Amino acid sequence: MSFDPCTMSYQSHVEHFEKIKTLIFPSSVDACSELAQQIKGLILARQKEGRDLVLGLATGSTPVPLYRELIRIHREEKVSFRNVITFNLDEYYGINRDHPESYFRFMQDQLFDHVDIPPDHIHVPDGMVPMDDAFDSCEAFERKIADAGGIDLQILGIGSTGHIGFNEPGSTQVSRTRLVALDKVTRRDAAPDFLGEENVPRFAITMGVGTILQAREIILMAWGENKADIVAQAVEGHVTESISASFLQEHSNVRFLLDTAASSSLTRIRLPWLVGRAMWDEREIHRSIIWLAGKEKKPVLKLTDEEYNENGMGDLLTREGSAYNLNIITFNRLQHTITGWPGGKPDADDTNRPEKSEPHPKNVLIIAPEPSDAVVSMAGTMSRLVTQGHRVRVCYFTSGSLRVTDGAATRFARTLEMLSLDGEKLHGGGRDETVDRGWSEQRSFASLILNQILEKGPFGEHPAALRRLKALIRRGEARDACSVVGVHHEHIRFLDLPFYEKGRYRRFIATEEDLMMVADMLAEERPDQVYTTGSQADPSSIQAICFQLFIKALKRHENESWAKMCSIWHYRGHQKALAPHEIAMAVPMSPDQLRQKISSIGKFQVHGIPNNLSGEQDLRTAVDYDALGMAEYEAIESFERIEGLKYKR
Ligand code: F6R
Repeated sequence: MSFDPCTMSYQSHVEHFEKIKTLIFPSSVDACSELAQQIKGLILARQKEGRDLVLGLATGSTPVPLYRELIRIHREEKVSFRNVITFNLDEYYGINRDHPESYFRFMQDQLFDHVDIPPDHIHVPDGMVPMDDAFDSCEAFERKIADAGGIDLQILGIGSTGHIGFNEPGSTQVSRTRLVALDKVTRRDAAPDFLGEENVPRFAITMGVGTILQAREIILMAWGENKADIVAQAVEGHVTESISASFLQEHSNVRFLLDTAASSSLTRIRLPWLVGRAMWDEREIHRSIIWLAGKEKKPVLKLTDEEYNENGMGDLLTREGSAYNLNIITFNRLQHTITGWPGGKPDADDTNRPEKSEPHPKNVLIIAPEPSDAVVSMAGTMSRLVTQGHRVRVCYFTSGSLRVTDGAATRFARTLEMLSLDGEKLHGGGRDETVDRGWSEQRSFASLILNQILEKGPFGEHPAALRRLKALIRRGEARDACSVVGVHHEHIRFLDLPFYEKGRYRRFIATEEDLMMVADMLAEERPDQVYTTGSQADPSSIQAICFQLFIKALKRHENESWAKMCSIWHYRGHQKALAPHEIAMAVPMSPDQLRQKISSIGKFQVHGIPNNLSGEQDLRTAVDYDALGMAEYEAIESFERIEGLKYKR
């Protein structure tokens, strides 16, 4: 079910901005089930004609829900894939097909092992071909596509650089299958999969833009807020070599399928009044006036009737009477988001405050999907909540062990080894058998870890002891970070959810076991206020999975009074800040509080959160508020409100 335009005139306005047909779905699952049905239809139609269907396929997290749905169709609807021929877009160069991150292996795990496509119908570029033979191998790949009759339907994802396949910025419209160097942003994006950027291959073999454009039909999918900006540029911007997805504007049969989060930067969603579809509800009025102030570079209270009229907001003006009235409403609404009392101000009139004053103190639950998430976004607020007497509990949903490098684990194991040698020398030496045994056990544990690191190699599965050590390293950092903002280590919970412990990046699958653990935790905590994140994130991300688990677990308690009353605040992750119109609670920070926050973030050393994330977004939010005519603060942490039990996605 797609949200399709309602009127012809609306459609033509949208087309004015969108140069590619773009459909927005409530979720990636909805989009993929529609697409999978289309593919099923094509397979069956070709079977009737006794012909093959040639699909161009992508890897990465985006197509995973599509592949799951195709597998379901094969199993449950008994559709055979024998007449399907596939060509994958790309492959990392220099890693063999058994490597857990090779695209060949990915496709086996995610699709090919579960459907009946004949092995000789499957084509993935060869990432191990010697450099000197790469050109010939790429030409042979192109020839095979031509011999198969060309690609009927090409499936694409989009990278943060705007790449399709691995056609990084600079790729030309006529480029063909070839060996390319990966952009540094692409390598950074792939770092979690390879357990560190240094392990990400530098090169890849990819179909060219020209190869892709020859497909008869193309569908690009994108999910999550992090894709929103690049999608909007590809759909609405100029055709440019710096965003290879923009070349798709030149194709006559292409569609983009987006979830709501990935569509959020399109003009029709961001500035709907410009495409003639404004609803002018409270939220839209607020958003449009903040946008107008930004555009005119003026504080809200200085906007004039002329400026409303000249920017497509004349009907709003007619409705509300004057710019003055509109400005005041927006000014007050913004003003009321600012509070130094995130847990509510006791004994105060809370009519215009973001949070209720009762109960006080509150049971506050802060959810961090990965250990560094909460402090990066809300260390200042955490500190205020503690100081204002609330019972603050921080719950880490996953252990974060996959973020800890082998180098860090080696360092810890070596320290343990040296400690046991020192200990033995100082306190052992035959004086007490139990003590001696203790030191020797410690040393065997250290050497077990060191051996496991060697044996598994840079990308192998982690044996339990190594994974546990990495989790403990992360725990230590999390405890240190919390203690900087005053959260006592006894008030921290580590759930170590099994979906993470058993999974790999981009391929996590949460189960009932995870859900029960979250539901049990909520039953124990009975929070009055929750801070969480991930509602707009890529659905395959840890943040999105944890958010869904939280919402589903909360629903299990929907009849309990604490759940009905609980207020839920949402902090955005490091990658995308909240825009002023989205903010329902703005918690100011003094320069000292900001320094404290940076020091808290600094406790996470092992995977090195880039410094520019340390409070930079909070400084920007303060500048934005100041420009809109609010008081000038050093920094501001910001939150959206989530209507918990009513939440749908
Ligand atoms: C993968 C590919 C890439 C990805 C893109 C998005 O075969 O060609 O262009 O589609 O990097 O990756 P995800 O889906 O992981 O966000």
